[in-house]
Amino acid sequence: MSKQVWKAGNMLYPLPAVMVSTADKSGNTNILTIAWTGTVCTNPPMAYISVRPERYSYHMIEESGEFVINLTTEKLARAADFCGVRSGREVDKWEECGLTPGTAHSLKYAPCIEESPVNIECRVVKTEKLGSHHMFLAEVMAVRIDDSYMDERGKFELNRTGLLAYSHGEYLGLGKKLGTFGYSVRKKKPDRKKRRKSKNKRGSSV
Ligand SMILES: Cc1cc2nc3c(=O)[nH]c(=O)nc-3n(C[C@H](O)[C@H](O)[C@H](O)COP(=O)(O)O)c2cc1C
Repeated sequence: MSKQVWKAGNMLYPLPAVMVSTADKSGNTNILTIAWTGTVCTNPPMAYISVRPERYSYHMIEESGEFVINLTTEKLARAADFCGVRSGREVDKWEECGLTPGTAHSLKYAPCIEESPVNIECRVVKTEKLGSHHMFLAEVMAVRIDDSYMDERGKFELNRTGLLAYSHGEYLGLGKKLGTFGYSVRKKKPDRKKRRKSKNKRGSSV
C-alpha cells in the first residue's frame, strides 16, 4: 500500500453533524451545525463542542453557558446543512428550516429542537481557547429522546432513526449493520434453523 504524507490537519471521519441550539440570557435563540463535537467522559457525562468565536452563536453559548446537541437524521440533512452555511445574524433558522423550539428539561435558556430524536442538554463547565476554535467542555444535564423509537421491551432503537454521518465534506446515511458491541469475541449461538434441519436429517437417516 502506497501512502502520501499530508501536512498536519484534521482527517478524523466519520463524524456526526449535529445541530446545536442555544440562547442568550435575553431569550434570543439560534441553531448552528457542528461537526467538531464528541463525548469525553461517561461519569459524569460530558461532551464538548468547538466553535469559532466569530460565529453568531458563540456569544450566546458564552453568555448563558448552555447549549443542546441535537442529533441529526437523514430527514434533517438539509436543515443541518442550512444551519451550517447561514448565520443567525441574517436569518431565523428555526423558521427557514421549519424547526420547532422545545423547552429543555434541565436548562434555563437553551431550547431543544423537537424534530431531532435525541436532545443532549449541556451546561458549560470550561472554555478552552485552543486557536481557531474554542472548545466548550460541558456537563450533560439531561437527555431527551423521542419515545416513538422505544420498543416493547423498553429499548431505545436509536439506529432506526436514520442517523446522519458527515465525512470529508459529504453527508451520508449509516449503511448496514455489521455487528454489535463485542461481537468479535462473542461465542456464536448455534443457528436454531440449522440445528433443527440437521436434527431432522439425523432423524431421517436412522
Ligand atoms: C457540516 C458542518 C459542520 C460544521 N462544524 C462546525 C464546527 O464544528 N465548529 C464551528 O465553529 N463551525 C462549524 N460549522 C460552521 C457553522 O455551522 C456556520 O458557520 C454557521 O453558519 C454558524 O452559524 P451562526 O453564525 O448562526 O452561529 C459547520 C458547518 C457545517 C455545514
